This record gives sequence, C-alpha cells and structure tokens, in this order.
Amino acid sequence: MPVKIVMVCLGNICRSPLAEGILASKLPKDKFTVDSAGTGSWHIGKHPDERSIATAKKNGLDISNQKAKHFNSTFFEEFDYIYVMDRSNYSDVTSLAKTEADKKKVKLVLEELNPIGKTDVPDPYYGGQNGFDLVYKMLNEATDILAKKLIEKHS
Ligand code: 4NP
Repeated sequence: MPVKIVMVCLGNICRSPLAEGILASKLPKDKFTVDSAGTGSWHIGKHPDERSIATAKKNGLDISNQKAKHFNSTFFEEFDYIYVMDRSNYSDVTSLAKTEADKKKVKLVLEELNPIGKTDVPDPYYGGQNGFDLVYKMLNEATDILAKKLIEKHS
C-alpha cells in the first residue's frame, strides 16, 4: 500500500496543484501517491490556474491534467499526511477532524523549512507572476526536506 499524501489550499487551483506536482516529482511512485484538494468548492473539476501551469512548466513539471477537488472529512481516512499551505487552511481542515489522530495528520507545509519563521505560503491568486514564482520557490525548498524525511521514514 502506498503512503498517501494530500496538499491543501483554498481553491485547489494555484498553490496545492503546484505543491502536488513538485512533491510527486521527488518521491518514488511505487511507494507514495500525492494528491491535492481545496477547502473551498468554487473550482471543483477545473484544471489548475494557467499561471500555476506555466510556473510548473518552466520548472520542468506538467500539472495541466490535474482537476480541483473539495477537501472533506473522508480525506482523514484516505490520507496518511495532510499538508496545508497557510494557517487559514489549517483551521478549516482541522475543524473537520473528528479525532486527535486526524488532527495530527495536518501540518503546515512550511513548518519543516521554517519552524519559527513565516509559516504561510501566500495566496498568489490576485497577484502577478512574481507571486507564483515565490510560491514555487517556497514549495520547492520545503518539499526537498519533506521528501527526504518521508523517504527515510518509509524505507
Ligand atoms: P489557491 O488560490 O488557494 O492557491 O488555489 C486561490 C484560488 C482561487 C480563489 C482563492 C484562492 N478564489 O477565491 O476563487
């Protein structure tokens, strides 16, 4: 059984699709599956934002086939790790947790990178390309650490 990971943001069209693509590219496919979802339901079924697709592409990743999903309480059973992009996502996701064990699955994605610093991946939706480049950089650095830890833990 693969270890199942889900990356979560608000819309599931900007940050978490990039997070999914980046982390998946650093983990062996036979041992891990990486998915993404949004705490909001506006974009269900939509492909990622064009700017996220372009940012991924310029870094050698294709995320254009992803489709937005809505995070719900069944995700706590389905996934082993739930990484959220910001503190607002954290509070939305943990409010759906039924047990302490569920709640413990939820982590801010930047926590490992920045344990005492800024912990939010900023929402780039209303900004320009710079915001998407910054999101990519933050997620790329954080997932280097995460992927290493996950591979160590599950080998
Ligand atoms: P994301 O960005 O949470 O990184 O996917 C957003 C995308 C859409 C909206 C908000 C954030 N929206 O309000 O539609």
